[in-house]
Amino acid sequence: MDPRRQPRHLKEACEASLRRLGVEAIGLYQFHRPDPRVPYADSVGAVRELLDEGKILAAGISNADPDRIRLANDILGGRLVSVQNQFSPAFRSSEPELRLCDELGIAFLPWSPLGGISRAGGLGSAHAPFARIAERHGVSPQRVCLAWMLAKSPVVVPIPGASRPETIRDSAAATELVLTAEELAELDAA
Ligand SMILES: NC(=O)c1ccc[n+]([C@@H]2O[C@H](COP(=O)([O-])OP(=O)(O)OC[C@H]3O[C@@H](n4cnc5c(N)ncnc54)[C@H](OP(=O)(O)O)[C@@H]3O)[C@@H](O)[C@H]2O)c1
Repeated sequence: MDPRRQPRHLKEACEASLRRLGVEAIGLYQFHRPDPRVPYADSVGAVRELLDEGKILAAGISNADPDRIRLANDILGGRLVSVQNQFSPAFRSSEPELRLCDELGIAFLPWSPLGGISRAGGLGSAHAPFARIAERHGVSPQRVCLAWMLAKSPVVVPIPGASRPETIRDSAAATELVLTAEELAELDAA
């Protein structure tokens, strides 16, 4: 695609989604992956137009660093509601973005929070402290991982992928697992 088309493409894709979903407006529209050849402000500007036109009710961005989070929030007139970045025990470099979201009151949605489809099952073997703490609580290392993220800030909403009811139930129960300050510190340092 001609890179100059990305802002227009974002709007056309939204229109097509509205038609397919048969709705007047999309609840949350997440600008997924910036094209490095396109000025960031142009693409976020297209998302702003969708907000102003009422075609989306809320706007989020993905794969953004702190400067881009602030820029996007400015362009959207302070209406940025979510940031979706990669964050997991193996990939922690989004901590500054998580802290900024906490400061600004913007939802932070860790993607591939369990390490991704091919690695999620082995989380406990790859990260021993998660397995150790899971054993102590009689739960899965994946549940400990999600509870650890949730404890970082009320703005954190991990989005684990799942294809089975058992894993969905297991992950949902992370909202009820309370880890001690010592356990959280151990997982932070792991
Ligand atoms: N914004 C972006 O650029 C971006 C990029 C990549 C992904 N994402 C999003 O991130 C989300 C999740 O990422 P992902 O699916 O790649 O990785 P993930 O959530 O880290 O891992 C998914 C795997 O975890 C397993 N799982 C889930 N809960 C579990 C549990 N409690 N115990 C054991 N295993 C469990 C699932 O198994 P089962 O299938 O067996 O249930 C699935 O294979 C998706 O919504 C995806 O769209 C966003």
